[in-house]
Formats: sequence, C-alpha cells, structure tokens
Amino acid sequence: MTKTQRTATLTLDGKSYEFPVHTPVVGPEAFDIGKLYAEADVFTFDPSFTSTASCESTITYIDGDKGELLYRGYPIDQLAEKSHFLEVCYLLLYGELPTATELEDFENRVTRHTMLHEQMQNFFRGFRRDAHPMATMVGVVGAMSAFYHDSTDIGDPWQREVAAIRMIAKMPTIAAWAFKYSIGQPFIYPRNDLDYATNFLHMCFATPCESYEVDPILARAMDRIMTLHADHEQNASTSTVRLAGSSGANPFACIAAGIACLWGPAHGGANQACLEMLREIGTPDRIPEYIARAKDKDDPFRLMGFGHRVYKNFDPRAKVMKQSADEVLGLLGIENNPTLQVATELERIALEDDYFRDKKLYPNVDFYSGIILDAMGFPTSMFTPIFAVSRTVGWIAQWKEMIADPKQRIGRPRQLYIGAPHRDYVEVENR
Ligand code: SDX
Repeated sequence: MTKTQRTATLTLDGKSYEFPVHTPVVGPEAFDIGKLYAEADVFTFDPSFTSTASCESTITYIDGDKGELLYRGYPIDQLAEKSHFLEVCYLLLYGELPTATELEDFENRVTRHTMLHEQMQNFFRGFRRDAHPMATMVGVVGAMSAFYHDSTDIGDPWQREVAAIRMIAKMPTIAAWAFKYSIGQPFIYPRNDLDYATNFLHMCFATPCESYEVDPILARAMDRIMTLHADHEQNASTSTVRLAGSSGANPFACIAAGIACLWGPAHGGANQACLEMLREIGTPDRIPEYIARAKDKDDPFRLMGFGHRVYKNFDPRAKVMKQSADEVLGLLGIENNPTLQVATELERIALEDDYFRDKKLYPNVDFYSGIILDAMGFPTSMFTPIFAVSRTVGWIAQWKEMIADPKQRIGRPRQLYIGAPHRDYVEVENR
C-alpha cells in the first residue's frame, strides 16, 4: 500500500485543485488524479502512458536508470543464477520464495496439469500448416474457456487458482504442439518425469521413432530464458491482460489477448525481428549501413532488440542472456556463430555512437535471446511463442493482483476528440 503524506496543487483558470501524492516503496511518486475530471472538468493526456501509473503492484519493479529488475524484491540476475523457473513462478504468484515442501507441492501440481484436453488436437488441425505458431496459440488459448469451464468463474478464488496452474502448466504443451503442427510432425505428450524446461524441449524435438535425451545444459539455458521473461511490470501485453480482466473476462480470454499483444514487433515479436535483422546484416562489414538506416528519420528501420521505454541503461536481462549465449554456443561448438559475431559487433558500434548514447538506446532482452533459440534449433517463428510461455506466469500473477485490488474497476480511458463537430445528416442527392 502506498503512503499519502502530501498533495500536489494544479492551478487552472485561476482555480486551484489539490491531489494526493502517493509515495511507493521505491520508484517515482504519483499524484492521484482520479477526481480531476469530476472537480475540474478536464482530462490528463498521456497517449502512450509514458507518465501514467495504472495500478499499485507488489510483483515486479524496474529501475530504468540503474538497469535493475526485481521480482518481488529479488534481483533478476540472482534469480537467473540461483533459482529456476517454477520456483520463480511460485515467487511471482504468491510473493515469497517457497519452502522445499511448498516448492515440491507446486511443481507436482503444475506437472499434473501439463496435458491438454485430447479434443483440442482437432483445434490445432484446423489451422493451415504454415500458420504462425503465435496465431495458433492465440486461438488455442482463447478456446481453452470452451474446454475448461470449471476454472472460468473469476469470482471464485479456487477457480482462479486452478486457472493459474492450468495456464502455466499447459502453455509449453500448446507452444510445442503449435511448433510440431507447423513442421508436420506428430504431437509429443508431456512427461511427468521431466522438469518444466526439459519437458518443453522434449515435446519440441522428440519424435515417436526413437528416445530423445534433452541436453541438460540446453534445458538449463531454456529455464533461464523463461526466468528472464517471466514478468516486467505494466508492459503492453500485461496491461492488455489487466484491461481485459477488468471487464470480468475469463482468464483464458485475457491470456489470449496478452498473447496477441505480445506478438507485435515493438514488443515480444522483437526477438524474431532481431534475429532476422542480424541475418539480413549478415557480416560485420555491413553494420555501418544499418546503423545509418536506424538513425535516418526518413527510414522506418529500427535496430530490433535495441531501446526500451523504461530501461535507459542496459536491460539486466540482456546481460544474463549474453552470458547464456556464450555458454550455449560454446557447448554446441559454434562460438564462431556469424550471427553472434554480428550481434556483438553491432552492440559495440551502436554503444559508441552518439545517436544511441544520447537517446539511451541499449540492447534489450530480445537482442541475444534469438541467437540462443536459433542455436537450440528453433525457427524464428517460435521465438515469440517461447516468450509467451515464459510471460504467462507474469500475466496470471498481474491478473490475479488486479482482481484482488479493491481499487480496480473496469478500465475505461477517455479521449481528446478532434473529429467533426455536431452536424446534421445530408441526403445523398444533396451531397
Ligand atoms: C520488449 O515494456 C516492456 O517492458 C517490454 C519488454 C517486456 O519484457 O515486456 O521489455 C519486452 O518489448 C522489449 C522491447 C523490444 N522491442 C524492440 O527491440 C523493437 C525496437 N525498439 C523500439 O521500437 C523502441 O525502442 C521501443 C518500442 C522498445 C520503445 O519505444 P519508445 O519508448 O516509445 O521510444 P521511442 O519509439 O519514442 O524512441 C525514442 C527515440 C526515437 O527517436 P526520436 O523520435 O526521439 O528522434 O529513440 C529512437 C526513436 O526513433 N529509437 C530507436 C530505436 N528505439 C528507439 N532508433 C533506432 N533503433 C531503435 N531500436
């Protein structure tokens, strides 16, 4: 709960209005303008919410200037090194690191919800084989409310809990099956003897023809990627989930909305766009041409994987991802990967360039993730689905927090109307 110890005064047309100033545990203060329209008959205007806090939250905190990311107060680099994804899921959902017993119980509950309703396979088969896996995921997750009626009543805490576990447990299966379907291979069922990341890689790369052992170092790298992407305050897709949830929509519909938003290349789609950009650049000698394009106001090209609305320093996730990329490519004996060479050189050149330094544009989480996923054997079309698998726990944790927040009502922004003023209809013969 924020403290409110002082007020801010707004003076408009000679009249003063007082608004409470909320002081958070850490981060910028906010003045509460909830009563502004009622008292002063004016709106605030902040179209991309650059200066707008939409809620109080206890889940994740980002300090963009320091390049710090905390999940329930724990720094992301410590969690990436010392924890693992399902423990991070527990932390994000329930607020504290679990005891050994709590963790075992949570992992068992998730493990036993990884299977999909068998009839959902028909749903996958309704898509064209060349459908982007994100299109399949949006459709299948949205359809889950038609298969899991007993966890759609958001007013029932027990159904909210079941929906949360089901979403976290089933997203790897949905993503893996979307991948298998797109390459014409049979679905591989989840296995209860495998940990979360290993199970996902097994469902993606095993076939019924032979036994398939997941390399534990690749599983560890995948688990770390999932931890790094788990939550990130009120980003576009999380805000979408919260807004959809504020209408009382069922959790599966809200997560489907989040997946759809994440797909955009300015957001979660940037990892696919970034690797495709690095491949298009191809060799380090072509980097200056692309740097020039990124700086050219008349060229819509942007360096994908660079820049961030909040981070005006290194994205701490990018640092961990770079270490993981070096580790995975070293393990696979492809440390001379040309894409990694272009990425490393591009990062060096950009960070020495005044344009990027002045605008505080640094590599973000998407800059190196694609290199690892590519090295693991994933097509670029699977990069954002893997982001969605990871972010589902963040979306669910934020959705649960929103529902439990007594301050939250249906989200309904207003607007500045700049269209035609009132006018009467003109018959077609008189136009
Ligand atoms: C994610 O919000 C989150 O937390 C998201 C995320 C999460 O975990 O949920 O962190 C995940 O989405 C990471 C971001 C992935 N997207 C990309 O890598 C796409 C490339 N990046 C840009 O499109 C951009 O940096 C954004 C979208 C990430 C942020 O955009 P902003 O905050 O609206 O910044 P902006 O577009 O206003 O840019 C500010 C200036 C502009 O120049 P001016 O108009 O001021 O002259 O910087 C320039 C931009 O042209 N700029 C870039 C650039 N990013 C910004 N120029 C070249 N290349 C870039 N990548």
